[in-house]
Order: sequence, then C-alpha cells, then structure tokens
Amino acid sequence: MEWDHGLSLGVERMDVEHRQIVRRVRQIAAAVAEGRPEEILGTLRFLGPYLVQHFQHEEAWMAAVGYPGAGEHARIHAVMLEAVTDAREQASGEAGDLGRAAADLAAALDEHMRSEDLKLGRFFTARENLRLLAEAGPGVGVALTPLPGSLAAVRPARLEPEEPPYPAAAAVSPRTMK
Ligand SMILES: [Fe+2]
Ligand SMILES: [Fe+2]
Repeated sequence: MEWDHGLSLGVERMDVEHRQIVRRVRQIAAAVAEGRPEEILGTLRFLGPYLVQHFQHEEAWMAAVGYPGAGEHARIHAVMLEAVTDAREQASGEAGDLGRAAADLAAALDEHMRSEDLKLGRFFTARENLRLLAEAGPGVGVALTPLPGSLAAVRPARLEPEEPPYPAAAAVSPRTMK
C-alpha cells in the first residue's frame, strides 16, 4: 500500500503515525512476497509496541471528541493487537504460516485506516466545522474544512444493491420491443 489522499484524516498528529504504519505494512508485504521471514519478524517486533501506543493516542482522541463509535473502534484495535501477537507466535512454525498471518494483519491495518479511522476523521472535521459556525455568530462567514477522504472509501459493501434496480437491458428481447 502507498500513502494516498484517501488515508489522510486531516489531523497531522494522527497522519504522522499512520504514515509510519503504512511504511511498515508495505515492508511486511514486500518481505512476504520475497520470502524473508527475518524481516517479517523484525517489522512485527517494531509494529507491536508502536500500535499499542498509536491505538492509545487514537482512543484518547475519540474520548476527547465524544466519538459515538469509540467502543466498537477500540474493540477492533484489541483484535488487531491480538493478531500481531498471533503472527509473532508463528515464527517457530512453518514459514508460510508466518507469511500468511503477517499478510492478513497488514491487510487488516490497511482496511482499518481506510474505513474506521477515516470515519473518525470525518466525524472530527464535521464537528469542528459546526463548532466554528456556531462560534462565528450571526452574519459572520467562516471557512469550513473539507471532510477528509472520499465517500466511496467509507461506503459499506452491504449498501450495494444485490440486484440491479431495473431489469438489465439484455433481458428485454427484440420481440417485446415491437
Ligand atoms: Fe483506529
Ligand atoms: Fe489509526
């Protein structure tokens, strides 16, 4: 994964930490692809304590801004920390198991930053915008900060319609069109 606009929360302190995580996720992906278990383990050794700290920062931020999804978000953090421990424990087993566990963790981190963390960034920015508007008072214009990320990045898969809303064009035979 590369750092891209879709990952930015628009809060520099959080973006700095996310950039570091993206770098490690990329390292893991490369080490898995090239079959370098020592490098996978080295990256996991760094990532474990780094994620503990990052998740603490993020959870403190959620509490400070009154984020409604804080409980569920923190639960996902705990699951990912367990995944780091699990992956490190694969070191004594088959090399393929370590690679798989590390690749799964890397994918989960990527997904988390693009969905749950982005949601939090959007909530924070929207709330700040509303605060600015309220504080500006009547008749005073304020510049609002655009919400971070794109709508597509946070659109849950379950909202996709299971069937097209109208019959597909191919289903209309020439006969019925006469
Ligand atoms: Fe998070
Ligand atoms: Fe995060």
